[in-house]
Amino acid sequence: MAPRRKLIVVSNRGPVAFGRDADGGRVARRGGGGLVTALRSLVSHHEVTWIASAMSEEDRAVAEEAGGEAVEETARDGSLYRLRLVAHDPNAYDWYYNVIANPVLWFIQHYLWGLASAPDVDHGLHHAWNEGYVAVNRNFADAVVAELEREPEAAVFFHDYHLYVAPRMVRERAPDATLSHFVHVPWAMPEYWRVLPDAIRRAVHEGILANDVVSLHTRRWRRNFLRSCEDVLDDAEIDWGAGEIGFGGHVAAVRSHPISVDADEFDAFAESPEVLAEEWAIESDRPEFLILRVDRTDPSKNVVRGFRAYELYLEAHPEMHRRVQMLALLDPSRQDIPEYAEYLGAIQRGARAVNDRFQQEGWLPLTFDIQDNFLRAVAAYKQFDVLLVNAIFDGMNLVAKEAPLVNTRDGVLLLSENAGAHEELGEWTLTVNPFDVAGQAEAIHEALTMAPEERRRRSAAIKRHVREHDIAAWIDAQLHDLDEARERAGSTLSTR
Ligand code: F6P
Repeated sequence: MAPRRKLIVVSNRGPVAFGRDADGGRVARRGGGGLVTALRSLVSHHEVTWIASAMSEEDRAVAEEAGGEAVEETARDGSLYRLRLVAHDPNAYDWYYNVIANPVLWFIQHYLWGLASAPDVDHGLHHAWNEGYVAVNRNFADAVVAELEREPEAAVFFHDYHLYVAPRMVRERAPDATLSHFVHVPWAMPEYWRVLPDAIRRAVHEGILANDVVSLHTRRWRRNFLRSCEDVLDDAEIDWGAGEIGFGGHVAAVRSHPISVDADEFDAFAESPEVLAEEWAIESDRPEFLILRVDRTDPSKNVVRGFRAYELYLEAHPEMHRRVQMLALLDPSRQDIPEYAEYLGAIQRGARAVNDRFQQEGWLPLTFDIQDNFLRAVAAYKQFDVLLVNAIFDGMNLVAKEAPLVNTRDGVLLLSENAGAHEELGEWTLTVNPFDVAGQAEAIHEALTMAPEERRRRSAAIKRHVREHDIAAWIDAQLHDLDEARERAGSTLSTR
């Protein structure tokens, strides 16, 4: 076990979201998403101060009562940590999250635009960058600097695309701090970054290079990162062999570490009474063959093409009618952003098209639930025969690891070649091209007719891999990188 360290974790979404229960009492609900789940285990083993945005009204009340300082919180396992919620100006937060971080940076990093029609980089976008993204990052940087003044030895762990410019702001005020950044999304090829005006794309790259370590999930995203730094910042020095980038008198190491799950915790959760109750409901209603997908309603997840592929499969295989069903469990996401609201509409239309065409008395070919229900998702993980993960691009995709881990039916994973998980699991999956709906339809057929022995072999191999490369390995690798960064900084200081 690694020694206990002082860490400052910085992410937009925090580990808990405060709200009120029916009696009006304050409650702390677990924050959603893969990033938060993965980082929770840090709290048990280290002295953590977590800085996050105050997102709900109640979060803002907590921040105000604490005078902007950190409050002491207790994690589910009883560990204590400090939580510092940053209450941003609501307009600035809206521009940051709903105009820049998701519809611009997320769209770039998942290649979601057809460039003939979008985006228009207009005054609104420039304004949202300056008064939203930069302003909110400045608030985060102020909070980090305040925490570093309290604990100068703490290492800072920035997370994700919401915080690209904050590290540089911190570096300017705390030159000797140890800073690292984990990017949980793909890194796009250099050409796609050129959609952004020079000043903005430079700010993104310069901002993140102020860290000592920059990590991404896969070798592919790491390679793209090195390339785009070389392209966007003509004054950056890239050491391809060492994976280091020198820029502005500072060196950042660039690493890849695939995120994973806490296998033991997940196993226990899958056997909890709440999940078993959900599983019973699914099992008593399931057809002979169950095709599952579990996603946020995000355009990058490619739900509509998945439905189209299933439609093509049903068209080609009438013998499977009444014997198969697709279950789509979809967590509504980012609905204040028009592109996301429109995509949810497209999902509903796509599902209806399949059912209108094929449903028969007593058989609905496609069932979809649009709700945030993790218990039901884990119950369905146990029951699938085919799991469809056909993301257009995805940093990792934790569903591709969680679901096979607890599946009880030797289910086959159909996995997009553009999901980060493919780099690790590809050899045991049926690889699909996310745009090739005909190919996905054929892969569904191949999966449902695969010999039981072969299904077992693949399923067992994925389970083994996820167990052997679980979240503890991911965290250890990053702490190791931090130690290396500190040593490097120490030797630079001593040779000055
Ligand atoms: O990296 C992607 C990510 O940050 C995940 O951690 C999470 O599942 C998702 O995006 C959630 O995004 P948001 O915080 O916008 O709901």
